[in-house]
Amino acid sequence: MRQILVTSALPYANGHIHIGHLVEYLQTDIWVRFQKLRGNRCIYICADDTHGTAIMIRARDEGIGEEELIAEMQQAHIRDFAGFDIEFDNYGSTHSQENRELCAEIWASKREAGLISVQEVTQLYDVEAGTFLADRFVRGTCPFCKLANQYGDSCDNGHHYGPVDLIDPVSTLSGTTPEIRTAKHLFVNIERLHGFLDEWTQSGNHLQPEIANYLKGHFLHEPLRDWDVSRPAPYFGFEIPDSPGNYWYVWFDAPIGYMASTKQWCDRHGEDFDQWWRSDKTEIHHFIGKDITYFHTLFWPAMLKTSGFSLPEKVHIHGFLTVNGEKMSKSKGTFVRASTYLEHLDPAYLRYYYAAKLTNRVDDIDLNLDEFVAKVNSDMVGNVVNLASRTAKFAARTGLSDVYPDDGGLFEQAAKGGDAIAEAYEACDYGRAIRQILVAGDRANQFVEHNAPWNLAKDPEQADRLRDVCTVGLNLFRQLAVYLAPVLPRLARQTGELLGRPIARWDESKTPVLGTSVGKFRHMMKRVDRQCVDATVAASTKAEPAGPQSAPGAPEDSDEPLKVEPLTETCTFDEFTKVDLRIARVVAAEDVPEASKLLKLTLSLGGEHRRTVLAGIKGVYQPADLIGRLVVCAANLAPRKMKFGTSEGMILASGPGGKEIFMLSVDKGARPGQRVH
Ligand code: MSP
Repeated sequence: MRQILVTSALPYANGHIHIGHLVEYLQTDIWVRFQKLRGNRCIYICADDTHGTAIMIRARDEGIGEEELIAEMQQAHIRDFAGFDIEFDNYGSTHSQENRELCAEIWASKREAGLISVQEVTQLYDVEAGTFLADRFVRGTCPFCKLANQYGDSCDNGHHYGPVDLIDPVSTLSGTTPEIRTAKHLFVNIERLHGFLDEWTQSGNHLQPEIANYLKGHFLHEPLRDWDVSRPAPYFGFEIPDSPGNYWYVWFDAPIGYMASTKQWCDRHGEDFDQWWRSDKTEIHHFIGKDITYFHTLFWPAMLKTSGFSLPEKVHIHGFLTVNGEKMSKSKGTFVRASTYLEHLDPAYLRYYYAAKLTNRVDDIDLNLDEFVAKVNSDMVGNVVNLASRTAKFAARTGLSDVYPDDGGLFEQAAKGGDAIAEAYEACDYGRAIRQILVAGDRANQFVEHNAPWNLAKDPEQADRLRDVCTVGLNLFRQLAVYLAPVLPRLARQTGELLGRPIARWDESKTPVLGTSVGKFRHMMKRVDRQCVDATVAASTKAEPAGPQSAPGAPEDSDEPLKVEPLTETCTFDEFTKVDLRIARVVAAEDVPEASKLLKLTLSLGGEHRRTVLAGIKGVYQPADLIGRLVVCAANLAPRKMKFGTSEGMILASGPGGKEIFMLSVDKGARPGQRVH
């Protein structure tokens, strides 16, 4: 029996779980369930990653404390994971006492090894917000190509630079011009571990070959740069005990969160922490996405090495999710939150579909929505579950035969196939495992088809034969349920209930169930309804019923902080009421073909009142989606002659422009023509 500790990357506490994340948590959960089914001692550890600037800013934007924000988000994450049958042995938080203590211990060992140095870092500082600015919180003009409104590290044309090089930088936190300031940061000298990292990454045992090559080609071919692991206050994190006013950078304490969460599990179960993190008895397996490769394959092993903790046996790295061949997108409704999916679709569908697509390579995986429907329906409902539904109802009357009938060697063949399937799971090549399971399913279905129990059932003289055929059919089905148990735990449980013997071990695929009664057959999996998929997409694109609409133009990473423009001068109430704001309904919407940004909207302001408005929202909103929608319109603006016609008003929207335009939505019940005060 192996002792295995498995982790998934710790999701950031500043956003909700979406179907992209689920690639990883499902991949890991399947592997853990497989290990447990094989009889190995295996625990699955995870936690929320709670520290850093993004959390601080989000809490500030929402007007709540960081601790409140992360507590709410942790509950939401736990709920979403449970909805997908992802079962952790412990789900902690990096903002825990255990983590603080472990960070201090690891830090002390770095100090002792003489790996820490102090260096001056020049950064942009937002005086109004009172904070240094990470690259993504600064925008300005690219110093190379002069492209405006670019981030602090690189521009859309691919030029790389530092935030202090930006022309006319603006803080996205306050909208003010930041100052250049210098602060002392603490650095870890990981070059001192270069030799060890060469050996560890290139040994062929711990990483996929393409990852080992990537590290060699991109990092290890030259001296490793010192790693900046501290941030000056204000920062939401742990203050460094021997460096007051400085905090560990989020990526320092995040992976230590794997240990802290294990520690909580150990304390709860009377286990010795050192047996899990300081002993070669335990294999440690990390599952992560390709975007966080170097943290886990360079910094993390380096940190563990100098602190005397166990190194990971393997870091399993997966690619990113695309939907219909493209990056997940809010405007297309393919940026689907886990909770939205669960409102419309069975989690088993996604568990199966991802399993069928996952390999042990780092390639991206594509969720093609047509294929999703077709595959689940043909493979799971048409092949696997069909076996049970075509035999169980007869067997419920007759029970199972006492002796396993002659099936032409099918049971034995599928029992022998178990080793190859197990090997594929072990190697994280789930697609290969699934293909082999489906081949066994095809053979079993041919047997049932050929012996047609529905015909035997019509002839009382064939009762014994009917029982034998159903005994074979159900046992072949049960083998599939065992092999699929890591992927479809609910199906395995239902199968256990049907046949009166729970599926708890992989080896149960080797012994048929005989001589027992069979329970009442209940549907195990419904066909995927295409309309439910469309509804999921629609719900991910459109408004929540009474809440704010999630706009199609929102950046994919909507956790970005807001750029606050300076507020304008006070106006009097009379000045305010001069603008006649009205609720209007879009009754027609069409493209203005010659214009790059304009749509032509016809608005009804109630009664006979109509306005034709040229709105700069093309490419962000589709004309067809706007028809029927209520908007807010400035109704008494003087008509404005434009190149492509006259605009008789304006509709209200926010956002900096480009793809980021957010039309104001109106709560249910408001009527066209009503004045907006
Ligand atoms: N907090 C860090 C991890 C710290 S681990 C010590 C983080 N969090 S995350 O929420 O952004 O991502 C969590 C995991 O989900 C990462 O492994 C990431 O690669 C994965 N994915 C996030 N979006 C994904 C897709 N669109 N597709 C596939 N995996 C994705 O990174």
